[in-house]
Amino acid sequence: MSHNLLKGKKGIIFGALNQDSIAWKVAERAHEEGAEFILTNAPIAMRMGEINQLAEATASDIVPADATNMDDLDKLFSSAEEKFGKIDFILHSIGMSVNVRKGKHYTDLNHDWLAKGWDVSAASFHRVMQTAWKKDLMNEYGSIMALSYIAAQRTFPDYNDMADNKAYLESIARSFGYHFGVAKKVRVNTISQSPTPTTAGSGVKGFDAFLNYADKLSPLGNASAADCADYVITMFSDLTRKVTMQNLYHDGGFSNTGVSQAIIEEFENKD
Ligand SMILES: NC(=O)c1ccc[n+]([C@@H]2O[C@H](COP(=O)([O-])OP(=O)(O)OC[C@H]3O[C@@H](n4cnc5c(N)ncnc54)[C@H](O)[C@@H]3O)[C@@H](O)[C@H]2O)c1
Repeated sequence: MSHNLLKGKKGIIFGALNQDSIAWKVAERAHEEGAEFILTNAPIAMRMGEINQLAEATASDIVPADATNMDDLDKLFSSAEEKFGKIDFILHSIGMSVNVRKGKHYTDLNHDWLAKGWDVSAASFHRVMQTAWKKDLMNEYGSIMALSYIAAQRTFPDYNDMADNKAYLESIARSFGYHFGVAKKVRVNTISQSPTPTTAGSGVKGFDAFLNYADKLSPLGNASAADCADYVITMFSDLTRKVTMQNLYHDGGFSNTGVSQAIIEEFENKD
């Protein structure tokens, strides 16, 4: 259901790979709520062409950009400037760890891969904001969001070096959020999302078991990608203009639950 929450707003959405992607759901919801935006992803992620369907459904342009490449980002933001003038929102929905992909244990990390994953998953958020900053492209009370995970605060062993990348990502949101707030009245936040069955999520070892565990621990159950999209829309809207420099848990209550009745019953059954 549309509430026209983003009517007249313009933006850039990074990270829609396929229909499971959180960014895909955000794009669909943003379109429903009246926003116009550019879709972007790494050139290699576009080879299957699925993003074309999303572009058609949301009447958006696609501009490929590797988020670790400053020339690509410069071209992307110049395209946005040409099309829209200033913009109101940016979604950074990007994550990748080579160590996770290749099954490297945390105690045996390849540090070149660590650096690559850090650049893609964390530093790219700084690169994106710095590009927008230098071009002075954000409207007042614009909103910049990235997606995080609670492994930034607590240990989830199979999340591997992505845990450290997410901690860094959240820190960038606070640090750049300060400067964007003071100088340009722009908000910067991260949403810490439940485990979600997407290409990136499913790459983590033991993901299905963990998805069930989180669902049983969370009083409201796991938040889906569609739920996450709804939350992102509110954060892009004018209803959240004074929320900034926050890591916002969107996890059905997981982060504040020690144990749930459902988990206790699982263990009782094992006796
Ligand atoms: N799925 C989960 O369980 C979960 C939970 C919490 C947070 N998140 C976060 O949500 C975000 C989106 O992930 P998702 O779950 O929708 O998975 P996804 O695989 O659909 O999206 C990840 C995206 O990152 C893009 N990407 C990778 N390298 C890139 C690069 N160099 N430049 C530009 N884009 C690049 C991929 O092409 C892909 O579109 C990520 O930050 C992820 O860590 C996911």
